[in-house]
Amino acid sequence: MTCLSFLSVFTALLLHSFASASEALCAQTFNIPSTVQAGPSQAQFTLTSAPIDAPKVAPITNSSYDWWYFDVASTDPADRSTVVVTFFTSTRSAFPLLHASDTVTPVYIWGTYPNGTRWDGVANGTSATVVVDGDASSGNWIGTGFSWSAPSASVYLITIDSPELGIKGTISFRSIAPAHLPCGPVAVGQTLQVGPRIGWANVLPDAASVVDLHVAGTHVQFQGTGYHDKNWGDVAFTTNVASWYWGHGRVGPYSIVWFDLLDLSGQEHLSAYVSKNNKIVAASCTSDSIQVRPLPAVYPPVLSTPDPIGYHINIDGVNEGVNMQVDVHVLAPLVDANPAYARFFGNLTAVLAGGQQFQGTALFEQFKLTQ
Ligand SMILES: *[C@@H]1O[C@H](CO)[C@@H](O)[C@H](O)[C@H]1NC(C)=O
Ligand SMILES: *[C@@H]1O[C@H](CO)[C@@H](O)[C@H](O)[C@H]1NC(C)=O
Ligand SMILES: *[C@@H]1O[C@H](CO)[C@@H](O)[C@H](O)[C@H]1NC(C)=O
Ligand SMILES: *[C@@H]1O[C@H](CO)[C@@H](O)[C@H](O)[C@H]1NC(C)=O
Repeated sequence: MTCLSFLSVFTALLLHSFASASEALCAQTFNIPSTVQAGPSQAQFTLTSAPIDAPKVAPITNSSYDWWYFDVASTDPADRSTVVVTFFTSTRSAFPLLHASDTVTPVYIWGTYPNGTRWDGVANGTSATVVVDGDASSGNWIGTGFSWSAPSASVYLITIDSPELGIKGTISFRSIAPAHLPCGPVAVGQTLQVGPRIGWANVLPDAASVVDLHVAGTHVQFQGTGYHDKNWGDVAFTTNVASWYWGHGRVGPYSIVWFDLLDLSGQEHLSAYVSKNNKIVAASCTSDSIQVRPLPAVYPPVLSTPDPIGYHINIDGVNEGVNMQVDVHVLAPLVDANPAYARFFGNLTAVLAGGQQFQGTALFEQFKLTQ
């Protein structure tokens, strides 16, 4: 790489003093073809110095997947405006919720108008490019009109210009909650596994977001709680997952992210995150950190289990004595009915140990993949 040969001419002292300049010279560009590649693929499951938004698995075979997920939900329970954009590098054989398609590089967008009516679209890239440079990243799914840019890990902008889908505009994100990994704050050497051979990095647990889109002639404009993470794996998604509950919400000064995944061996894998005024107050993956259960309480969920009306979430075993009892209620489904997958907008009530209570909104999902 040119940046390495450039650096090699410096002494250790110069290297040190030029460290930040050298980072700027070390932009890495990843070109991801739109066709399935021969394996085996290699995945990263421990954080190295590489930025958390870089591709984490390569090449993309018929059983590996990597994606960049973004969403924004209204913070007013009476306004059901939401938008979700996912830049995929995967096929349906690796991740079963995708349409059968020849392209490895589709972008999916789903949204709801203030009245809860859904709209969506899929654009099929002819390839994808991701550039990472220090904390900064950008992605361009060639031929779709969908791209993102991020001058730093705390400010993101998605730009859409898709005449094909009739969608044009921007979605912006300004971080208000520190990034984290499955078991705690971002740190080199930390695990990236949220479940068996399933990577997860939560770059934006909460963000002040502005959505300004034109969707088939309707102006979709709202502000809300934004979010960005990425998932990846080097074996097909269904190899290990029986079910999972994930979601995020904002109440008062708190930003909350939950993960409760059940693998095919019956083991639960957890991740709890709470930040307050842009400082992490809980970030853990221990067995006592969190429990997420559906209402009515039918657990473990299987394909025939009806969709819940909400969830009860107990966040416990964290520092500073934070115990939080969280209830989320479904207000609107965000995807078409599907026994394997549901995504919802809802209201969220959080009660802290001591009785203090907060209300807000949440966006959350569930997978259930077994009979
Ligand atoms: C991937 O391709 C290989 C070789 O053709 C095949 O054996 C395997 O079953 C495929 N895996 C999936 C998940 O489709
Ligand atoms: C992309 O491919 C999917 C699956 O084949 C298809 O449903 C969708 O309409 C395509 N999108 C466009 C914009 O052609
Ligand atoms: C919901 O809002 C959208 C966008 O304004 C509109 O097109 C649609 O007709 C509305 N649906 C209902 C059921 O009112
Ligand atoms: C949340 O929504 C549910 C379902 O509509 C409703 O019964 C409940 O009162 C709401 N909770 C709050 C705190 O507004």
